[in-house]
Amino acid sequence: MPTKFILYFTPDFEAYAIKEVEGALGSARKLADFGGGTALIETDRERKDLLFLLSKARLILAKHISPIDVEFGVCGQGDKDLISILDHVLSVSYVLKGDRFSIQCRRRGTGSDYTSKDVEVFVGSWFEGNGSIPVFSSTGVVSGPEIKVVGIYLFNNVCYVGFSESGELINEHNDEYRLYAKAGKVSRSQFKLIEALRKFKITMHGGRALDLGAAPGGWSNVLLGLGMEVTAVDPAALDPVVAASPNLVHLASISEIPPDGKFDLIVDDMNIDAESSAMMLVGLSRLLGNGSNAIITLKLKKGSNPFKAVNSAIHILWQSYDVVSVASLFHNRLEVTLLLAKKG
Ligand SMILES: C[S@@+](CC[C@H](N)C(=O)[O-])C[C@H]1O[C@@H](n2cnc3c(N)ncnc32)[C@H](O)[C@@H]1O
Repeated sequence: MPTKFILYFTPDFEAYAIKEVEGALGSARKLADFGGGTALIETDRERKDLLFLLSKARLILAKHISPIDVEFGVCGQGDKDLISILDHVLSVSYVLKGDRFSIQCRRRGTGSDYTSKDVEVFVGSWFEGNGSIPVFSSTGVVSGPEIKVVGIYLFNNVCYVGFSESGELINEHNDEYRLYAKAGKVSRSQFKLIEALRKFKITMHGGRALDLGAAPGGWSNVLLGLGMEVTAVDPAALDPVVAASPNLVHLASISEIPPDGKFDLIVDDMNIDAESSAMMLVGLSRLLGNGSNAIITLKLKKGSNPFKAVNSAIHILWQSYDVVSVASLFHNRLEVTLLLAKKG
């Protein structure tokens, strides 16, 4: 029986992201465009095979998958629709007393007298009243394998509901963007590094980090927060608060002029093309201990084939690194992020 799911992607790479999941599943058809980098997709695969196959496929451009378990019509009137949505949510989900849960509603189209927030509150309050524990984005990053996630998507007069556990999803993006956007920040990019460290399960406690293309200093700020000593390389100025840290040295030069010393981690967010960035990282690999990690964002060009650019950069990186993971993070726009390990 065919299965429907919501696919999240960078809007410029929609065709490639669908092609990628089609390759992994054997079939994938777009049924509706939800806008903002989301589309409703149908595959001939069964629901039980969907996440398994996608998780094995090492997807590069698909950011997130949310399977649909039930779909039904809505009329746009809250007094009727909210009850109906809750009924359908309960028919496909198992959120028990004491379980942690998150409700995410998105809607597209006009003509209803309620908002997506109204839906989240209505359904969430029911679970809460039943003794389940809501995980709100304002109280911390919504992540972890133990969260029951209810996705509700309203598209004109159809509602799609999917239930999953956060560990099954290819990316537990949840409400991180909204949460991070509210928090104090040096640059929006810093949330990319936070997400990358969490997704790649990198925990650093102290040590030395080299930050290439560091300005205005968001990534450096995150690394300082992990107790690291940071060498930040960028001809541009750093945020004064970051620059004033006693644990940071700013080299106001381009990364082609290599710094001295040995590092436990190299991160690279330079605004240069993917191949040049990869070559530079290969040149600097001697500064890293064997097995130590590097994190690089590969900048991709609108209108060009992202697979080609990523593959070509990976071929260069293989000279000095094992490519451990490649991901389109929730915070990536026209780029993907790679976790590398220096070859022994
Ligand atoms: C996207 S910004 C980095 C943002 C940073 N990660 C943060 O969190 O604030 C890209 C930076 O790359 C720097 N850059 C571009 N080419 C460079 C090069 N060859 N060497 C060093 N920095 C470079 C730019 O000056 C720019 O500040």
